[in-house]
Amino acid sequence: MMDQGHIKAMTGKGAVEALVTSGMKLGLGTGSTAIHAIRHIGALLQGGTLQGIRAVPTSYQTLIESERWGIPLFTLNSPEIGGTLDLTIDGADEVDPRHYCIKGGGGALLLEKIIAYASASYVIVVDETKLVEHLGMQFPLPLELIPESRVPVMKTLETLGAAVQLREGVRKAGPVITEHGNFLLDIRFKSPVDPAALETELNRIPGVVENGFFTRLRPRLFIGHADGTMEVRE
Ligand code: 5RP
Repeated sequence: MMDQGHIKAMTGKGAVEALVTSGMKLGLGTGSTAIHAIRHIGALLQGGTLQGIRAVPTSYQTLIESERWGIPLFTLNSPEIGGTLDLTIDGADEVDPRHYCIKGGGGALLLEKIIAYASASYVIVVDETKLVEHLGMQFPLPLELIPESRVPVMKTLETLGAAVQLREGVRKAGPVITEHGNFLLDIRFKSPVDPAALETELNRIPGVVENGFFTRLRPRLFIGHADGTMEVRE
């Protein structure tokens, strides 16, 4: 049996091998699986197998790792990118049978969503433990909100029957501050919810910036299994 670290490495690398070609405009995801895709892109660029890549990172973690590998970085607004990408490879916290996802475990959901929705092709790399029947029953739904709206947003979510927690920093007192200067909530639902409806509904609460349901794309899934195989689901 392969351990989880090796499964993540195999899956991130496998998606790059299968899909990334020279000249692409790429969205680079965040987390411990997507980082293997970034490292493999970096290694292929350094070896000369890949050329002319222009990339947009989804977080500081990704930006720093990409810089280490010399991957040419831009923003979605750069003329070299022009607001659209060929392909984004990212991880996820949960994936359901419709390929709906929960993302934001690493706190990067806002840019991850903007970049995903600007991509012609969207790929999610996960190990098999991320596959679930109903989203949000095990992994809490992350939600980014502006700090001034913390109490009213938490109260509104609680009236919807959810248990809500402000995400606290690790080795930093107080809440996590996102790349965009916002707070994060982690929302636990008591019974199965409709992710597609909630993706829209939650953003209607004043102060909510974005939530971690990703339901408007049907990503291609690269799934790493503990037996060392990698499965692709279209
Ligand atoms: C970060 C994310 C990540 O993609 C998600 O948390 C999965 O990360 P990992 O591959 O480390 O489990 O959404 O905001």
